[in-house]
Amino acid sequence: MAPGPDLTALSVRGVSRRFGGLVAVDNASLDVAPGVVQAIIGPNGAGKTTLFNLISGLYRPTQGEVRLLGEDVTGLPPSALARRGLSRTFQNLQIFFNMTAVENVMVGAHLRSDARLWSAIFRPGARARQEREAIRDARRLMEEVGLGAYLDADAAAMPYGALKRLEIARALASRPKLLLLDEPAAGLTPPEARSIGTLMRRIAADGVTIVLVEHNMRLVMGVSDRIVVLDRGRVLADGRADEIRANSDVARVYLGKRMRTARAVVHA
Ligand SMILES: Nc1ncnc2c1ncn2[C@@H]1O[C@H](COP(=O)(O)OP(=O)(O)OP(=O)(O)O)[C@@H](O)[C@H]1O
Ligand SMILES: [Mg+2]
Repeated sequence: MAPGPDLTALSVRGVSRRFGGLVAVDNASLDVAPGVVQAIIGPNGAGKTTLFNLISGLYRPTQGEVRLLGEDVTGLPPSALARRGLSRTFQNLQIFFNMTAVENVMVGAHLRSDARLWSAIFRPGARARQEREAIRDARRLMEEVGLGAYLDADAAAMPYGALKRLEIARALASRPKLLLLDEPAAGLTPPEARSIGTLMRRIAADGVTIVLVEHNMRLVMGVSDRIVVLDRGRVLADGRADEIRANSDVARVYLGKRMRTARAVVHA
């Protein structure tokens, strides 16, 4: 029988990354189906952000393969991955504080394609029109992520919770098919975290596949279709939320390293 079409949005196969003597990601594999919210959890230092850096092209894997929408993209630079539909946010805010909120979102849109840039250079008049469209798109995206109150704000004047959303708006501006969110709820109040969960489900319902790294277990358990647990770079468990909650290895890893999170896994 002929092989069927490759339906995974993201496939990580046997990926490792060493830093000197440390194996930060160790032979990790996972498959993410299109349109789902896939969580990656694990204690501090488990390799979650490193895995994001490998998927998004910031780091090259020491070994293994990354496939995006069925295509081998291992070792491609972030710009090439952005053009193929990958976008991400960062664990530490990456906001341009000397710009307005709208300009921050527009930075994301400019990653989308070189075609716009070329037409801007060669077609007189096109540039101004495209700039107007880009501003309109950025404002619409801000409203979609719940930032309607900040349409005319400078980034520097926005509270932390709004800046976390601004990062999501910027990541969406490149119209991604796969969105990697590294701790989108870190530092948020419980109501703010809940509303980030609602936003994630809405984004996924629009057909954007989400991979979520997050320590807020209530959010993870409530929003994720599937959960992968990383421990010391290795995949310790991979399953639905209820399966992960019942997994004794997972509880033990968290008990050893993060008491509060362990309780959160069990009680979320
Ligand atoms: N560029 C680097 N050079 C050397 N070591 C690194 C580098 N990046 C990450 N590491 C190490 O790799 C391991 C995994 O780090 P990583 O940031 O991926 O963990 P994490 O799961 O995201 O943790 P956290 O939940 O605290 O964000 C850690 O031991 C870290 O110190
Ligand atoms: Mg991290």
